[in-house]
Amino acid sequence: MTDAPSRLTLRRPDDWHVHLRDGAMLHAVLPATARVFGRAIVMPNLKPPITRVDQAIAYRDRILEALPEGVQFTPLMTVYLTDDLSPAVVEKGFLEGVWTAAKLYPANATTNSAAGVTDLVALAPVLAAMEALGMPLLVHGEVTDPDVDIFDREAVFIERHLIALRERHPRLKVVLEHITTAQAVDYVASEGPILAATITPHHLHLNRNAVFAGGLRSDFYCLPVVKRETHRRALVKAATSGDPSFFLGTDSAPHPRAGKESACGCAGIFNALHALESYATLFEKEGALDRLEAFASESGPRFYGLPLNEGSVTLERSHQQVPERLEGPFKALPDGSTLDSHQAPVLFHGGELLPWRVTEVS
Ligand code: NCD
Ligand code: ZN
Repeated sequence: MTDAPSRLTLRRPDDWHVHLRDGAMLHAVLPATARVFGRAIVMPNLKPPITRVDQAIAYRDRILEALPEGVQFTPLMTVYLTDDLSPAVVEKGFLEGVWTAAKLYPANATTNSAAGVTDLVALAPVLAAMEALGMPLLVHGEVTDPDVDIFDREAVFIERHLIALRERHPRLKVVLEHITTAQAVDYVASEGPILAATITPHHLHLNRNAVFAGGLRSDFYCLPVVKRETHRRALVKAATSGDPSFFLGTDSAPHPRAGKESACGCAGIFNALHALESYATLFEKEGALDRLEAFASESGPRFYGLPLNEGSVTLERSHQQVPERLEGPFKALPDGSTLDSHQAPVLFHGGELLPWRVTEVS
């Protein structure tokens, strides 16, 4: 048996699914993502959602303005599909290099998705345009029918909608986002390379018992909800398999603490601050550290048809205690507003010791 490594250097990774939010929250959370990841696919579920080219350009500018000095980071923007978005707008934003992909939220499936799509068949003209352009469709794959059990919503979405959608658009590149089930793993593994999936750190670490361990743990509530242990195992196997159809997407989704810890708490886990350490910890447990680079830094850009990053990140084996919540000081906006420390999001792995630490990024 070889000794466990004390350092690990990887090509600089990308995050293929992140919520950077806006305003004070953007200023508070962006540094965590931008420090480690070279690029990120930025979710468009703001209020109002990003449905126009000018909105996406303005949002991208706000992200670039909020970047800490000297940090190299490229936000890859997305457009939020609605029932009445025209194919011409989707095409224009893509051809002008404003957005990289389109996000499909079934209406009311998750946070800020009320303006999402109600009829996937009617979306055909937009999807046909994307198929012709080679523009990826990013799917929140859950049905919203109240009669479908929440733990089955992903598997039912694949059966009832995704298979048919992909038969109608066989050349469309699709990413099934933040997968949570063995059914999603099997479907994606059998349909690559035109179909891929992102996997989050929290779905790799948690099963549904965690949400109820010792009380109701709103910190572990996200959508799609974490599933039973057999599904978590299937995700771990897929992520660490080296199959290029599975790659890194944190779905880091910060909410003010008050929004999570209320009578009706928000869905979303904020993991950006220790995301790479979180994945490394899991890959090491599986004896698959040698496959982390493919998952984090290679398979995503290859799917999107983008160059691999040039830089690198180094992780060192050095225990770090994760704070309970994001600590300031938070950079104030030009209007003087900042994120109040009571509003600061709770951190994934808060209070735990993680065995890895990112020490260098170049
Ligand atoms: C996300 C959010 O808060 O925007 N929440 C979540 O639980 N993942 C939305 C999403 O990606 O579903
Ligand atoms: Zn998300």
